[in-house]
Amino acid sequence: MWLAKVFTLYPEVFPGPLSKGLYGKALSKELWDLKIVNIRDTAEDKHKTVDDTPYGGGSGMLLKADVLAKSLDQNKNQGERIIYLSPKGKKFDQYYAQDLANEKSVSFICGHFEGVDERVLSTRNIEEVSIGDYVLSGGETAAFVVIDSILRLLPGVLGNENSKVDESFQNGLLEYPQYTKPQIWEKKGVPEVLLSGDHDKIKHWRLSQSEAITRDRRPDLWQKYKKD
Ligand code: ADE
Repeated sequence: MWLAKVFTLYPEVFPGPLSKGLYGKALSKELWDLKIVNIRDTAEDKHKTVDDTPYGGGSGMLLKADVLAKSLDQNKNQGERIIYLSPKGKKFDQYYAQDLANEKSVSFICGHFEGVDERVLSTRNIEEVSIGDYVLSGGETAAFVVIDSILRLLPGVLGNENSKVDESFQNGLLEYPQYTKPQIWEKKGVPEVLLSGDHDKIKHWRLSQSEAITRDRRPDLWQKYKKD
C-alpha cells in the first residue's frame, strides 16, 4: 500500500480534500495510507520552539535543523525518499508524479516561515520540489497538489484505468476538448465527428485538437513533443 507521510506544523489540515470522493474510498479500502507527523512534537524547550532567526541577518524565521531532523529520524523508513516542498525546488511535473507513485512510501515536509536550515536538507538527502513559479505561505497546499497527482496514478484508485491515459500530460500534450449531453446547448452543437461513431476519425480529431491546443498554450511542451 502506497504511504504518504506528511511532516507539518498544521496536522489538523490533513487529510482535508484527500479524504473525499474516490481518494476517500481508496483510503478506506487501504489502497493508500496517510501518516501525519507534527514537527512541533520534537521541539525540546518548554515553549516548543520550532523556528529561529537566520545567521547573517535578514527577514523571517527558519525551521530549526535539530527539531526537523529529530522528527524525520524518529519516523523514518529505510530507503524512503523525502520531499521538501519549496519554491526553490526542482519543478514538479507528471513524470515526477509517476516516479513517486512507483515508490512504496514517500515523506513530505511542509515548510513555513522563510525556509529550513540548509544542513538538514543535505544530511538527510532531501529532494527539494516546487509545484510552480509562485510563492505559497506554506508547504501544505503544495503537498495536497503533489499527493493528489500521485494518488490518481496508483492501481485501483480511479475507477477507469483508461481515463488516466487520455488526459493532459500523459502523452506530453494537453487534453482535447470534451462534450456531453444535451447535444444542442445555448444554440451550440458539438463537433460532428464526435457523433460519427467512427473511432479512428475521432481518435485522429482528438490528437489534432490536443496538438493545436498545446502549440497555442504551451510552446514549451510543444517543442519537447516535436523533438521526441
Ligand atoms: N512552498 C511555498 N511555495 C511553494 C511552491 N511554489 N512549491 C512548493 N512548495 C512551496
